Amino acid sequence: MDLETTGTTEIGSYFVSNYPPFSQWKQEHVTRIHDVLHESPDASIPMGLYIHIPFCRKRCKFCYFRVYEKQNAKTIERYVQALQKEFEMLSQVEAIKGRTLDFAYFGGGTPSYLSSKQLLSVRDRLSSLLSWETAKEVTFECEPGTLNEEKVKTLKEIGITRISLGIESFNDKLLEVNGRAHLTPEVYKAYDWIQNVGFPQVNIDLIAGMMGETDDNWTESVEKAAEFAPDNITIYQMELPHNTIISKEMKEMGVTSPIADWTTKRRWMNEAIETLQAKGYHLASGNELVKNPETDRFVYRDNLFRGNDIVATGVSSFGHMQGVHYQNLDRLEDYLETVEKGELPINRALEPSEHQRLIREFILQLKEGHVLTQPFQEKFDVNIIEEFSEALENQKKAGYLTFDDSQVQLTRKGMLQADSLLTEYFEPEHRMVRYT
Ligand SMILES: C[S@@+](CC[C@H](N)C(=O)[O-])C[C@H]1O[C@@H](n2cnc3c(N)ncnc32)[C@H](O)[C@@H]1O
Ligand code: SF4
Repeated sequence: MDLETTGTTEIGSYFVSNYPPFSQWKQEHVTRIHDVLHESPDASIPMGLYIHIPFCRKRCKFCYFRVYEKQNAKTIERYVQALQKEFEMLSQVEAIKGRTLDFAYFGGGTPSYLSSKQLLSVRDRLSSLLSWETAKEVTFECEPGTLNEEKVKTLKEIGITRISLGIESFNDKLLEVNGRAHLTPEVYKAYDWIQNVGFPQVNIDLIAGMMGETDDNWTESVEKAAEFAPDNITIYQMELPHNTIISKEMKEMGVTSPIADWTTKRRWMNEAIETLQAKGYHLASGNELVKNPETDRFVYRDNLFRGNDIVATGVSSFGHMQGVHYQNLDRLEDYLETVEKGELPINRALEPSEHQRLIREFILQLKEGHVLTQPFQEKFDVNIIEEFSEALENQKKAGYLTFDDSQVQLTRKGMLQADSLLTEYFEPEHRMVRYT
């Protein structure tokens, strides 16, 4: 089996972030998540909160998230109120009541699109119901042009410990062509405020393969990112899921992909890894470099990848509770109306089998580049080397990984295309289905 995806970046590529594929989660299983929410939980499982803020100043041409641009202040305020009502309902169910949060994550869309006043109000309401004082990490995603000094101070005040800033590129021409709302002067200002206020962890996002990217631009962006010296640098290779503006334009106009091919993106990624490693960074997963591997934990990702409880709030957000996957309604108006009626806005769910949970945890941890066999033996009573022997042998022969009795380790070649290796571990009936 040839696993190498070397060709053009075609429509339909995606990141693997869960298993079984989202297309298998169904409305008919929603009753199962309602049952689980009303049963007494195994409270030894760590629990976190995900809060989705779906608003952005402008929709980037490459973005595949559920986002709404240019919404009026009234809709945003209505959303903030609905979120608070949703927290209220959730904090009273048996599976969540009285438990403490180990982590929280504000994702989007653009959480930093909310005003300081709205952020304070969300924090106040939430902490009266379910405090994040106990959380080891509270992450907050920001688009540079939505920040100001006062808002950055508010983020500190409400207890954010990890700031994630979507820089994407340090080239104004590229930012503009790709439809980003911000330009580099806003990046420099935002970064200064973040540094001055001071957060335990700062992450920046870059994308290898924005439309118009060249070797020189890319080298320059990586150098500038290194000069910023954040704790963490996440580098995405540009994907083209079906719902991006670029994909729609390609379909409508019948044009070829304007995104660099996979070989080029992997070469850029590899260059970035080498440049950043020379400056003291360590590769923490297929797409993350950290300054201090001893201290820089990404608590949210670690919990997500290990199947712990995540309470999903907000439109279209994904959660997992006591072994059951679920997702909220994914249209804004449906979400708002349902919550305003006093009902939980859950749209689809799936209770994975024990074997599916094993596959999920194995493939997600493989994205980190390194999987130990012992924890799987303890948790699932399964030897993963025997369980996945065929796929492991294939991928070893092709030079993507090595393994022995105690661990599976991706090679650099494997790290650069970790996502493309994962489908081989899926159950046969899930290999050809649509992912989302
Ligand atoms: C929710 S956004 C981060 C916060 C904020 N909305 C922003 O963009 O600055 C998450 C990240 O996903 C990445 N991303 C979005 N669309 C992508 C695509 N098609 N391929 C690769 N990465 C993508 C971007 O790096 C972006 O920073
Ligand atoms: S990449 Fe970020 S700012 Fe751009 S549309 Fe997506 S969520 Fe919004």
